[in-house]
Amino acid sequence: MHTDWYIVNLDKLGYAASLDNIADLPDPKRHEFIRGDITDRELLGKLWSDGFEIVVNFAAETHVDRSILWADEFIKTDVLGAFTLLEAARQFGVKRFIQISTDEVYGSVENGSSTEDSPLNPRNPYSVSKTAADRLAFAYFATHNVPVIVTRCSNNFGPNQHPEKFIPLFITNALENKPLPLYGDGRYVRDWIYVEDHCAALDFLIEQAQAGETYNIAGGNEVENIAVARQICQHLGKPESSIQPVKDRPGHDRRYSLDAGKLARLGWKPARDFSAALVSTIDWYAHNEPWWRTIKSGEFKRYYEQQYGSRL
Ligand code: DAU
Repeated sequence: MHTDWYIVNLDKLGYAASLDNIADLPDPKRHEFIRGDITDRELLGKLWSDGFEIVVNFAAETHVDRSILWADEFIKTDVLGAFTLLEAARQFGVKRFIQISTDEVYGSVENGSSTEDSPLNPRNPYSVSKTAADRLAFAYFATHNVPVIVTRCSNNFGPNQHPEKFIPLFITNALENKPLPLYGDGRYVRDWIYVEDHCAALDFLIEQAQAGETYNIAGGNEVENIAVARQICQHLGKPESSIQPVKDRPGHDRRYSLDAGKLARLGWKPARDFSAALVSTIDWYAHNEPWWRTIKSGEFKRYYEQQYGSRL
């Protein structure tokens, strides 16, 4: 972990963000928080006047189900936002620009695993907006020499993840003795990576990556959703009958699977064991009820009813 950086965190504090998540930074003197939107060209110009060495674009609307209900914000933040940041990087200069992309750009993978050269086949409004940003970032390298690298990571989990996502939703619903809404037959496969492993991979790539290159980052833990749901029930001592099959997500990608050989050959691999990390994540939610209860009682309620119906 780089301890000598001065970090400026630009965040519009949308529904999924919370200042509580950065309340215990190791060194707040090296960290500045600015509330703002990456689509705000004027703000970016002002911020850039002191110069940035490294820009990491984590900013995005991220939830597939919401993109199916309301795609507008995904096009705005994920596509136009990435474009606005890339334009600022071109205009004012930067030593590294990291575009956080996703394994969803490859679409559903029936057999084998996707390498960085596999065809892109995104199939929902979220993954299409991320693919647009991914390729736009590459275009700024190819046409304007902006030193871009693109990373495509598998499904993250860990503390502080918004309870709309599968793992925290199932943990918190189980803690509330509510049903766990499993889409379709539950045999969809995701490759889970603990959030700190993802961060460690990015830290590594900031030093080791080559401009213009794309890197897959995988957890190496491909698990069916039903198996994850069962582990959560088991650890919390809840009956498996709390898992309730519900209407499937439209266009639901069956399986994601990354070949992360390129990153392994550079010398990085994930450290955390999936089951152990899942248990510590479940324990984190069990010990931080006020954090997720606040989120679940706000805007989330309206979303939840629209997504799952009041029955759940
Ligand atoms: O693969 C990386 C992607 O992982 C990221 O790019 C996205 O930003 C992130 O949201 C995540 O996308 P998924 O759609 O895979 O994550 P989600 O947590 O929504 O769903 C994980 C799996 O669980 C998926 O197969 C759908 C299923 N699921 C999800 C929810 C919310 C359910 O069965 N029930 C649910 O209620």
